[in-house]
Amino acid sequence: MDGLARLEYRGYDSAGVAVLGDGALRTEKRAGKLANLRQALEEQPISGDGAGIGHTRWATHGAPNDVNAHPHVDNDNRVAVVHNGIIENFAALRLELEEQGCKFASETDTEVAAHLLRTELARHDGLASAMRAVCRRLEGAFTLVATSVDDPGLVVAARRNSPLVVGRGEGENFLASDVAAFIAHTREAVELGQDQVVELRADSVTVTDYDGDPVDVREYHVDWDASAAEKGGYDYFMLKEIVEQPRAVADTLLGRVSVDGQLTLDEMRLSPEELRSVEKIVIIACGTSYHAGLIAKYAIEHWCRIPCEVEVASEFRYRDPILDQQTLVIAISQSGESMDTLMAVRYAREQRARVLAICNVNGSTIPRESDGVLYTHAGPEVGVAATKTFLTQLAACYLVGLYLAQVRGQKFGDEINAVIAQLATMPDQVERVLDTVEPVRELARSLADADTVLFLGRHVGYPVAMEGALKLKELAYMHAEAFAAGELKHGPIALIEDGLPVVVVVPSPRGRSVLHDKIVSNIQEVRARGARTIVIAEEGDESVRPYADVLIQIPAVPTLLQPIVSTIPTQVFACELALAKGNDVDQPRNLAKSVTVE
Ligand code: AGP
Repeated sequence: MDGLARLEYRGYDSAGVAVLGDGALRTEKRAGKLANLRQALEEQPISGDGAGIGHTRWATHGAPNDVNAHPHVDNDNRVAVVHNGIIENFAALRLELEEQGCKFASETDTEVAAHLLRTELARHDGLASAMRAVCRRLEGAFTLVATSVDDPGLVVAARRNSPLVVGRGEGENFLASDVAAFIAHTREAVELGQDQVVELRADSVTVTDYDGDPVDVREYHVDWDASAAEKGGYDYFMLKEIVEQPRAVADTLLGRVSVDGQLTLDEMRLSPEELRSVEKIVIIACGTSYHAGLIAKYAIEHWCRIPCEVEVASEFRYRDPILDQQTLVIAISQSGESMDTLMAVRYAREQRARVLAICNVNGSTIPRESDGVLYTHAGPEVGVAATKTFLTQLAACYLVGLYLAQVRGQKFGDEINAVIAQLATMPDQVERVLDTVEPVRELARSLADADTVLFLGRHVGYPVAMEGALKLKELAYMHAEAFAAGELKHGPIALIEDGLPVVVVVPSPRGRSVLHDKIVSNIQEVRARGARTIVIAEEGDESVRPYADVLIQIPAVPTLLQPIVSTIPTQVFACELALAKGNDVDQPRNLAKSVTVE
């Protein structure tokens, strides 16, 4: 149950467990959060001395109710299965199984796996062999974990396009979608590859492919411990993760410069020759990671003069993008498991583009399937809303931009070092913003009844505005929208009415002054039409003060790096407003931390 609690961020609309013992299989399942299952188990405990499996669900097929919750069992109650992903051919398989006499209890795609396993068990020697046979029949994405009363000390799991990791303990072993589930027991993990099956006993771990042939696996040590995945005195993980940002950014920047002053990205795996041949960059990502990509474009094009496109991963492969060996695709994903991004990565590699992943989770699928990787070091992020991983993605993107400029000779070493020195000050600047955000909290509480909040930005402030609007939508369930401030007069200004809160992210007046002046005009335009202006501007920027109903000051930093500080007030704003509405900011409705289905 504690392991499930650590995984609850991945899905929290229902949960269940199955345990084996005394020749029987006992299951308990409940709709709603894990607390409901916990209570049911307290009222009516189930026990067993064999293996156990459990699941927290994010519904795809079938409503989130008790019956559709996992585990699912066969008609003889001998096999139990939990599943992440989508079995795309489940309708045909269900029909076939029903014709053979199987009775289905749920509306899920998962249940076909339970019945299929039972059928294959009758034909095969053992659960692992049956699992391989089942996997060969399934289409789509799945991690399946199964137990059977025939062998109570065994858990068998298989994966295709969905995460699964093994934890190796002393006389005990674990399986989970994420190391967080077993980090309290062991930090030694084994990465499972695509289309592999694992047989797990207390004293052995055997991994094969779907044909039963043994495969090599990568073992690794997890560099954070259980305390990193605890709330540490905060009411919500999100609150803790926001304040962890200075450390997260510092850790991501750590150790990137060699003794001779060269930027060195050890895990990069792409050679300087390969990077010198790059003619175009395409960044693919989803949600918050996409916003990091939008910001990266400004930095990369400015520093490296390489054309850079940014695209939502779910759209990318459906538009026949032009890619070749000279294209560098940068896939940004904190989890490394977003199915949309993973599919885009695979597509890009099929087109012979080189792929560099920026990722926060060691051993996850996207970096494993990419040509190179740059890991962010944010530590585990449990709150569904990305905060510290976003800031570290920005830091990583800046590093990639500077590294490209270095290997391609587009900037002198001292110019690169000057930016690295500025980057090195960012953790302190983030700390300063965090020290001064109390008024943002008050403001957020005062706006708890607002219906809509608009966000405006220009240049790198535009993606920051988009990120602010996304946070507000996902946490406070309110309408929030971001516009490039220059687009206002092309339509959105019609939305402005008396008292409408408009958050404006103002570029530094020390950057391109024309940019700054233009946004000051935009602020005046919305204010003249009744908007309540909430202005995020650099300390010392007095020109915005007369037009700001609320002025939020951030430290003066170089223009391209400003998102690292300007994002923080928008995170705090969304979090506090959601809390004022009584929402659970760690587990907002309808969402999951890693979206492992397309
Ligand atoms: C951010 O707050 C969201 N929860 C979501 O948009 C997220 O950034 C997106 O699903 C991408 O996830 P990834 O970085 O793990 O690929």
